[in-house]
Amino acid sequence: MQGDRTLLQVDALTVAYGGIEAVKGVSFTICEGDRHCLIGANGAGKSSTLAAIAGATPLAAGRLRFAGEDIDKLEAHARVRRGIALVPEGRGLFARLTVAENLRLGAYARNDRHGIEADLDKVFTMLPRIHERLHQTAGTLSGGEQQMLAIARALMSRPRLLLLDEPSMGLAPRIVDTVFEALDSVSTAGLGILLVEQNARLALEFAAQGHVMENGRIVLSGRSPSLLEDTRVRRAYLGGD
Ligand SMILES: Nc1ncnc2c1ncn2[C@@H]1O[C@H](COP(=O)(O)OP(=O)(O)O)[C@@H](O)[C@H]1O
Ligand SMILES: [Mg+2]
Repeated sequence: MQGDRTLLQVDALTVAYGGIEAVKGVSFTICEGDRHCLIGANGAGKSSTLAAIAGATPLAAGRLRFAGEDIDKLEAHARVRRGIALVPEGRGLFARLTVAENLRLGAYARNDRHGIEADLDKVFTMLPRIHERLHQTAGTLSGGEQQMLAIARALMSRPRLLLLDEPSMGLAPRIVDTVFEALDSVSTAGLGILLVEQNARLALEFAAQGHVMENGRIVLSGRSPSLLEDTRVRRAYLGGD
């Protein structure tokens, strides 16, 4: 029997596009409240792994368990109800809708009106910049604000596991710091996080555990501090020697 803290079990996950395998038997486990990151070069299969967990892409083989339940046959919206929220690459906001409307869409799978209002208040406290721009359309926000809105929207589904695909993409370094500070402030007790990043240093400094992906496989897993010291990781992903 698994410990009670086990949240997500990814077991021999395979994802294929037109018969070509992009993810080739990936396995890892995330417990409640733990932060993991998936690092690796462009094309390694990181986004495909997240998409399969969120239900945006079917599995070719393998198994996904979430909070003790098999979820790989569930539609994406059913996984959102179970507590899995994806912040997709490119943020996936509705540019012509306001900040407030985007946030409410994040709660689409819920019907606990009072809980939704309470969570909106929580998000506003954690991310005051989002609160200040409630009636602005999402497309007119800065890149950093859009990324924070995408995170806030994901939180509105009251997730137990937050999947983040390249939140630093396209942002200036100073803005990336702001977004990661915001992420720190929203990582409340118990929330599991799986962060995908090409920026390996950033990811390993944020997450306690890391997995290195190459050509569809996890080639190395461990605690982030040891991965930051690992010669292979330093050479391939941190620009060190
Ligand atoms: N929708 C798709 N159709 C066909 N091939 C895809 C699709 N999405 C990703 N791929 C391919 O799968 C491989 C892994 O891509 P991806 O998961 O996006 O990697 P990463 O996020 O690590 O850059 C790449 O070779 C990519 O070209
Ligand atoms: Mg990707």
